[in-house]
Amino acid sequence: PNRVGLAAGLDKNADHLDALGALGFGFVEVGTVTPRPQEGNPRPRLFRLPEAGAIINRMGFNNAGVDHLVARVRASRYTGVVGINIGKNLTTPVEQAVDDYLTCLHKVHGHAHYITVNISSPNTPGLRNLQFGEHLDALLGALREESRRLDQQAGRRVPLAVKIAPDMSAEEVGLVARSLDANGIDAVIATNTTVSREAVAGLAHGDEQGGLSGRPVFEPSNMVIGELRRRLPDMPIIGVGGIDSGEAAVAKVAAGADLVQLYSGFIYRGPGLVGECARALKARFADH
Ligand code: FNR
Repeated sequence: PNRVGLAAGLDKNADHLDALGALGFGFVEVGTVTPRPQEGNPRPRLFRLPEAGAIINRMGFNNAGVDHLVARVRASRYTGVVGINIGKNLTTPVEQAVDDYLTCLHKVHGHAHYITVNISSPNTPGLRNLQFGEHLDALLGALREESRRLDQQAGRRVPLAVKIAPDMSAEEVGLVARSLDANGIDAVIATNTTVSREAVAGLAHGDEQGGLSGRPVFEPSNMVIGELRRRLPDMPIIGVGGIDSGEAAVAKVAAGADLVQLYSGFIYRGPGLVGECARALKARFADH
């Protein structure tokens, strides 16, 4: 119905799909979910930096496990587009990460309109290394092969998206782009939170560990989106990071995104932001 989605991490267990769906989002991404339930990091693990329109979080994939999430998606009455974002348990060694992603892929395949492979959370040690070098090709190759098999079995194609971090040089984005393309990945979500603290130095909570989101990540994520678009002219890009107005949503699409997602802006501005962004995008890109 529109190009404005809810970003992953707000409804980690798909416990609130009906309510979130009723707020006017064009699509809702639930998760990150892991094979087994886990507590996440000790509290406090979530901090508001209102002067910067920002949030720092180190939730650490607190979730009730993939079986719970699937049961909740099945029980919901939401008929809109659902993305399911998958990750790995904290205690799974990074060398065995692919097994966790495959377990989740299997379990969610029948219940998702698209599946997001999250390799960009800063709160699971080693996770972001999966974005680079041979790790990335090995992971994406295995997931693509298995998802094709599941697609065939189900007679239904479920696109695979990969979610990446903003903390990358143009050259690193180029390597990621090449791997997405080589492995037949369907879409990219840019970006997750940043580990940079430049924009919030000196602010209360500005030095908390975790991922920084909201206004400070707007420009860095636009840079990544621009670089991806330059290298992958036909790849669907979901742009996320620091959208706090209709104007910012328009700028995200102008930077190269096809669809957008909200998280921090939604926390500060509330549900009114969803319609504001959807209307602004419809007015500006009516031809799409
Ligand atoms: C997140 N984000 C996130 N992303 C993801 O892929 N899996 C997750 O579990 C979470 N969890 C999460 C928790 C909290 C409290 C926040 C603030 C964010 C990242 C989120 O989806 C988004 O990519 C970034 O927050 C950037 O967008 P905003 O917040 O600047 O609009």
